[in-house]
Amino acid sequence: MKNIENMTSEEAKAELAYLAAEIARCDQAYYQKDDPYLTDAEYDDLKHYNNAIEAKFPELIRADSPSKRVGAVVQSQFKKIEHRFPMLSLGDVFSMEAVADFVMGVKRFLNTSEFIAFMAEPKIDGLSFSARYEQGRFVSGATRGDGVVGEDITENLKTIRQLPLQLPEGVPEVLEVRGEVYMAKSDFFALNERNAAQKKKIFANPRNAAAGSLRQLDANVTAERKLSIWAYTWGEVSERQWHSQEEFFQKLQEWGFPINPLNRVCYSLAEIENNFKHIMELRADLPYDIDGVVYKVNSIELQERLGFLTRTPRWAIAHKFPAEQALTRINNIRIQVGRTGALTPVADLEPINVGGVMVSHATLHNEDEIQRKDIRIGDMVIVQRAGDVIPQIVGVNKAHRPQNSEPYVFPSVCPECGAHAIKEEDEAIRRCTGGLTCPAQAKESLKHFVSKEAFDIVGLGDKVIEDFFADGILREPVDIFTLETRNRPAMDLFAQGNGLELEKREGWGTLSVRKLFAAINERRKISLPRFIYALGIRQVGSATSLLLAKHYGSFDNLQNDMLARETAKLVAIDGIGGAMAKDIVEFFNEEHNQRAIADLRKYVQVDEFVDEDIKDSPLSGKTVVFTGTLEKMARAEAKALAQKFGAKVAGSVSSHTDFVVVGADAGSKAKKAAELGVAVLSEAEFMDMTSR
Ligand code: IVH
Repeated sequence: MKNIENMTSEEAKAELAYLAAEIARCDQAYYQKDDPYLTDAEYDDLKHYNNAIEAKFPELIRADSPSKRVGAVVQSQFKKIEHRFPMLSLGDVFSMEAVADFVMGVKRFLNTSEFIAFMAEPKIDGLSFSARYEQGRFVSGATRGDGVVGEDITENLKTIRQLPLQLPEGVPEVLEVRGEVYMAKSDFFALNERNAAQKKKIFANPRNAAAGSLRQLDANVTAERKLSIWAYTWGEVSERQWHSQEEFFQKLQEWGFPINPLNRVCYSLAEIENNFKHIMELRADLPYDIDGVVYKVNSIELQERLGFLTRTPRWAIAHKFPAEQALTRINNIRIQVGRTGALTPVADLEPINVGGVMVSHATLHNEDEIQRKDIRIGDMVIVQRAGDVIPQIVGVNKAHRPQNSEPYVFPSVCPECGAHAIKEEDEAIRRCTGGLTCPAQAKESLKHFVSKEAFDIVGLGDKVIEDFFADGILREPVDIFTLETRNRPAMDLFAQGNGLELEKREGWGTLSVRKLFAAINERRKISLPRFIYALGIRQVGSATSLLLAKHYGSFDNLQNDMLARETAKLVAIDGIGGAMAKDIVEFFNEEHNQRAIADLRKYVQVDEFVDEDIKDSPLSGKTVVFTGTLEKMARAEAKALAQKFGAKVAGSVSSHTDFVVVGADAGSKAKKAAELGVAVLSEAEFMDMTSR
């Protein structure tokens, strides 16, 4: 180390360059190879030396400086980052049979009888991140968020030593590397011990500790916590230099990312099964938490052919470990009334640790379930938790049943409003008949309306809805949009402008009220999928809302068809079944809903839905029918491809059909097409229209 006092700017520049590279090399040796070549003291000396030079020559601080791995400015809120390629999630399966079904499905889709190679990777129980590199330099990092928009955690990620800030020459100009941030079990225990001594927050499990440490506005806090990463997939890339998941891992390794050593390619179902068992045996002794094994089709070409369902890839699946269980007591059974009036029994439990998480409630699903399992207050029960799902009760330990115990009697009236609660013959669920006059249903509907995937109105949390509802300020969705005018009514000589005066409420002030109105006003224009979702139609979640938006394009189109009870058209949409279609049609034909929708639309503009990906495809908006045997792909793949390019796929030829794609041995449909003068495409022509 040189004397800093007499150092010239030239020398300082060279020293800082050397130190950035050397410290990165040490980090890599320590964190990736588990083979440090410096002692901790030597390493600290290097960092102090680096910091001292930087203090004297602040203008020379490098973008990839090792000092940047600690701390950064404290902001009031995370900035948002929109993922150019969404961060998807994976479908779950819990048995080898289900894995075999998945593999079969993949083979069927690809129309092949040969086994396809899969990369099997431990499923890390942490939080996913996306790290963006431009010209090889780390420029930004984000959390998954809702998959489309995440939070900007650039500064926090920089503090994780295993994440390279500078990549070697030859990497794609734009490269997003994605993976999991986690906290090693030992670091988790140490953190909790330290926190306990200082009477600070105790984390329930390493995953929560990792989340709490990463999502810190003050990156100095993140820097103090020991976080680690595994890299396993990519987002945007300017030039994909790999053809398989396996090759991608080799690249990641060359570039200095930590790759899980248990990742391996499997060439048969038997290998998949053996590997799963092997990893399950290792699980308890691994230094980090995993909750299953992920299988990904190894070939990227095949991945691309397989494509995606709404939120999950067709080419990957998560094989989860069996759920964890524990024994505890039921202290009480409560009935919750949901948005659709469903009465759901919930068991209040003596709190218990189940596989690292404290559990104090479990769902009992419905009254049949209680009866079938004969679950009673006071019983000792086996509770089970699997991943993020709500804990469930697997069974009762009757040997411990208290002597005076009595069977549980399910209420026949709504505990919230007293209306009759009835159970339709073919339904398992008992529902309150109070509709929106039932305060529980009305409140839950409002909460749903403002929730993240619906109108996403910041400032209208559950507590505020409860309070405003109780005081009659908000009773139904439209009230949200008249809140501001009701708060400050226009001066009127005759009516004295007695407003709501929200700013005088406890916990509110001028600023918070102004913020709330601003948040509401931002939502006076809303996307079609969000609007549909917000209506809270039974069984219609955000994925179905998106399907409906794609299919109908505008709210009027959807509403008109539903008022005309066009159930057949709904069922023709891939992903919408008969029962769901019935609920949708009924929703739109209910008088109260019609009024609520009409009221809302006076204040809210619902945008038409334009699917950016497909708007200029030659198939966009066209109706396509397939007939005969296709050579290059199975019917399912062809259908998915057509839909990807904006087409609707129908089963029979009519005057509404735009194209009939004809394979070998086509029969009556080809003939009908000729009769009606519908354009006929060969398989090759169809492929041409979809090769972009
Ligand atoms: S791949 C399109 N690989 O599991 C594929 N995910 O349920 C996207 N996860 O959000 C994910 N280990 O947080 C992938 N080896 C692995 C993983 C993994 C853990 C998490 C990840 C993701 C979730 C999906």
